[in-house]
Amino acid sequence: MASTYVPLLYLLVAVLLMSVAHRTESAVVVVGGSKGWTTGFDYNAWASSQNLQLRVGDTLVFSDPDQSYHTVSLLDSADAFQRCTLGGSLTVHPILAGNNYSMTIPASLESKTLYAVCTVPGHCTEGQKMKAAVLPALKAAIPPTASDPNNADLNRYICWTTAILLFAVSFWNSS
Ligand SMILES: *[C@@H]1O[C@H](CO)[C@@H](O)[C@H](O)[C@H]1NC(C)=O
Repeated sequence: MASTYVPLLYLLVAVLLMSVAHRTESAVVVVGGSKGWTTGFDYNAWASSQNLQLRVGDTLVFSDPDQSYHTVSLLDSADAFQRCTLGGSLTVHPILAGNNYSMTIPASLESKTLYAVCTVPGHCTEGQKMKAAVLPALKAAIPPTASDPNNADLNRYICWTTAILLFAVSFWNSS
């Protein structure tokens, strides 16, 4: 009868709850807004005017409305960013005229500063660079108590325990 399905229903609800608990909310940010990714623009002023708050998992879109050739590289030091030092083994992402380059902010940048520059000669010194602090990813169903790294594990543990208990209890009742 219908009661046979009750345990399955509980299990389904528990699994749904777990998937919600693990989903992260991420944003898509078009760098520079309608100005796009170009020279002669103050990205740091723009970022603060937007109250820009980047998080791990957010997507940065580097768009190219002026149809010229630009690139995106991430630098790993404030000094290199300050001086536009583009030496070493940089990973360069080219943006062909009129296209976009989208980058998902990696977890490796959590609680660090993202330094993005264009590596086309002269462009960085002409202002084509942006730095921004990267906050941890937002968890949709879990209130951010960021300082506790075991929080996610604990939540997972509670979800599983609840699921198994509900399953056992409801199975017991229906049989
Ligand atoms: C690039 O991104 C901008 C801003 O989101 C969008 O308006 C434009 O259509 C995109 N262009 C391409 C070629 O995807």
